[in-house]
Amino acid sequence: MKQIQFFDTTLRDGEQTPGVNFNVNEKVQIALQLEKLGVDVIEAGFPISSPGDFACVKAIGEAVQTTSVTALGRCREQDILRVKEALALAKQPQIHIFLATSDVHMQYKLKMSKKEVLESINHHVRFARRFFDIVQFSPEDATRTERAFLIEAVQAAISAGAKVINIPDTVGFTNPTEFGQLFADLKANIPQFDEVIFSCHCHNDLGMAVSNSLAAIEHGALRIEGSINGIGERAGNTALEEAAVALHIRKGFYQATSHIVLNQIKNTSDLISRLSGLPIPRNKAIVGANAYAHESGIHQDGVLKNPETYELITPSLVGVKKNSLPLGKLSGRHAFISRLEDLGYSLNKEEIDQSFRYFKQLCDVKKEVTEADLHALIAEQSAEQTETAVISHLQVQYMTNGVQSAVVRIENKDGVREDAATGAGSIEAIYQTINRLLKQDLSLTSYHIQAITPGQDAQAEVHVVVKDATGTPFHGIGIDYDVLMASAKAYLNASLKSQRLPSTKQTKTQLTEVLTADCN
Ligand code: KIV
Ligand code: ZN
Repeated sequence: MKQIQFFDTTLRDGEQTPGVNFNVNEKVQIALQLEKLGVDVIEAGFPISSPGDFACVKAIGEAVQTTSVTALGRCREQDILRVKEALALAKQPQIHIFLATSDVHMQYKLKMSKKEVLESINHHVRFARRFFDIVQFSPEDATRTERAFLIEAVQAAISAGAKVINIPDTVGFTNPTEFGQLFADLKANIPQFDEVIFSCHCHNDLGMAVSNSLAAIEHGALRIEGSINGIGERAGNTALEEAAVALHIRKGFYQATSHIVLNQIKNTSDLISRLSGLPIPRNKAIVGANAYAHESGIHQDGVLKNPETYELITPSLVGVKKNSLPLGKLSGRHAFISRLEDLGYSLNKEEIDQSFRYFKQLCDVKKEVTEADLHALIAEQSAEQTETAVISHLQVQYMTNGVQSAVVRIENKDGVREDAATGAGSIEAIYQTINRLLKQDLSLTSYHIQAITPGQDAQAEVHVVVKDATGTPFHGIGIDYDVLMASAKAYLNASLKSQRLPSTKQTKTQLTEVLTADCN
């Protein structure tokens, strides 16, 4: 069996999803969960792109213990030095550098000839090898690169010392047959093919990212790059959870294994969904709410007689727990802690004390506290620990066909402030009040509400995206059993992130300016 490495780029390419903007704490939390999931490499960010991204890569490099951490840079010495600086304290650092090789990118974006591109690859891979043992090189837009030139570029990178060659399908153009053939061509033409790791990085524009990645594996790739839930630029990246389970279920066919701890998939996917504000479609493979639901009578009958009739994947394989009994007001501390442990949380004594207090408060308003409620409770707790201000009072007056009004009180270390404002709707009134209290001018670009659990006493989870005057987006999340309070918390969360500049992610325009200003 071959061992397939999983390279997670949720925090780099995944964060390139419009409206997704993780802060440092969230990124570290995600990286630690990725470590539990067993990925081999975490791509923590693109340090030269912004001071915030640099800080995140540094924090992740320091927090992660056993998993390799890498970061992205262009073929430029200053990018490589910035990665070196950010990963100075990482235990297993790697670097990932890229340069486009397709005609359209070389002519219009880089304005470089083939010769210049080859020289740049040679120079920068050698330069990176001075600081990193493992240098990964990506010929960007490889699938639209003239094949003979792609082989030359890959050969140049290997000769200069690259130990990993990643083949990106940057615009999601390829299909499984062609992508498999591309790897077969590399194998046939690169004498050192088996001495380095070949990797694939697929985008999902035509919905084929996972299939393309598996085709690469069939033809010699030993590493899959992707993100959790497939988040990423445009239509996203290869969904790593899908690729991992496909390899496992069809290992007879692929003859491959990985280090992925499959029963951590659900927790990881839930975390990414919550922090990115991107809900998982019910019918999504592996982690969607319907993935293990059998609706038709014939299917239900078959599954009751023998699950193998219609159940390809056992829910517990990926950490989906069915029929776990909800907790309630009679549940004790021990049951509470053991359920949190089942869900993958390891809290210290102080955190347990606090979360148990929240749990008891929740039991006063909810008859049954489900796993989703527990995830929400822990998310709330960690938000409160990092938040610099909280809403301590919210009052809304609603009038049919009239102007709505809100009173909001915010507490922070400097004291308590209260204000009131009106709006066409209750949410607008609350958000105008928060704007006045924080003396800010933000525009709301997205508002999304979902019930975390079924039933009338469900908790509400609200996700908002706001933009500041520079157009930088900030995502906020708020959870509460009252929809208005959840909405207020989400807006405050996004507002506080916008005040903690520099942002970890710059706007597309700012980023393009930084990256193109000195491109050549
Ligand atoms: O899609 C792409 O080409 C990339 C590279 C930086 C690998 O993300
Ligand atoms: Zn990409």
